[in-house]
Amino acid sequence: MQAYSVWNNKGGTGKSTITFHIASRFAELNPNRKVLVVDLCPQANSSMLLLGGGVSGENELLRLCSLSTPKSVVGYLSEAILKRNVPDINNYSIQIANINNKISPNMFLLAGDGNLELMAPAINDEASRTPFPGLVDPWAWVHEIFKRMFQYLEEEWTVFFDTNPSFSIYTELAICGSTRLLVPVNADDSSRVAVKALFALLYGTNPPHPFFGNYTFAAKANFRNLSIPKVHLAIGNRFTQFKGAAAAFAAFSEATSEQLYFEYSANPGRFSERPHPAADRDEFLRLYVGELRDFNTAGVVAAHVGTPLSKMRQDYYPVHNDPDVKVNRSQLNVGLKTVDSVVSKIDP
Ligand SMILES: Nc1ncnc2c1ncn2[C@@H]1O[C@H](COP(=O)(O)OP(=O)(O)O)[C@@H](O)[C@H]1O
Ligand SMILES: [Mg+2]
Repeated sequence: MQAYSVWNNKGGTGKSTITFHIASRFAELNPNRKVLVVDLCPQANSSMLLLGGGVSGENELLRLCSLSTPKSVVGYLSEAILKRNVPDINNYSIQIANINNKISPNMFLLAGDGNLELMAPAINDEASRTPFPGLVDPWAWVHEIFKRMFQYLEEEWTVFFDTNPSFSIYTELAICGSTRLLVPVNADDSSRVAVKALFALLYGTNPPHPFFGNYTFAAKANFRNLSIPKVHLAIGNRFTQFKGAAAAFAAFSEATSEQLYFEYSANPGRFSERPHPAADRDEFLRLYVGELRDFNTAGVVAAHVGTPLSKMRQDYYPVHNDPDVKVNRSQLNVGLKTVDSVVSKIDP
């Protein structure tokens, strides 16, 4: 069973947008599988999109988070930590189609929750408790909360975690719950820096930092032999529309692809396996980079109405103060094609 964390140590690269479009299309194209989105970002953007977008998505989310036992990551984590057990995910997740009928029925959500931010110090305290001799190690126990969630999920599930860019405790929980990473990057230099930081946060630096080296997530996870998810795909997001594949690869900033290929050459084991290893940089890009173009107006409308591109029609849509935002067929087709090309690179 694969669980994908959509993560990059940089904000605004498209994590929530990608979680929404890629996971919902993956569910549509794999009707025999079940898809669970776990939203571990307190901003809960992908949850709001899945719950119908705009004000209605916001209200639906508020309703779930305001239940006496919230149907959200906060509800789930509260039971896990206070009762020290493995909560039944079915008590906390929802079938999205019951709220948003544009989402296929095999898709479920453990919703994000703004209170996750308020809860974070409590999770941190629990993780850093001094272990009693011979008893369970609290750091490992807390970090593997979502790995244990899989006890309730059969083989037919695929999980997507949406994350926060900062490497906070809730991001660490997503990372430790997943087998693979989808890394959205934009074609600019800050993406190269973020990719470098991502590997340093997951694996530490060589040599370790002289003062902080022992305190890092990497050192603690390594000491306990916790498995770190493999980079499955870098997703070049918001590439300019109407460019061919070759031009798009060129747009995938030289610097970022160079940084990724450098990492791959030095540590191929940090990347998910392919039938055979990449022989050179071009093959590496073909195997490990996906391309998502800018959805333009279609993307704005899709987010506003919580609708995947496959379910949108050519039409005029009301968005905020504008009653007639036009989305045309060709724009939807281009967007859907690029979504499908990325989905085709994601294994069940
Ligand atoms: N492929 C895309 N086409 C059009 N707009 C996009 C695309 N990807 C992201 N955006 C927009 O960029 C902004 C940031 O995206 P978001 O998914 O919220 O990033 P993150 O979750 O990484 O912070 C949002 O306004 C979103 O609508
Ligand atoms: Mg986000």
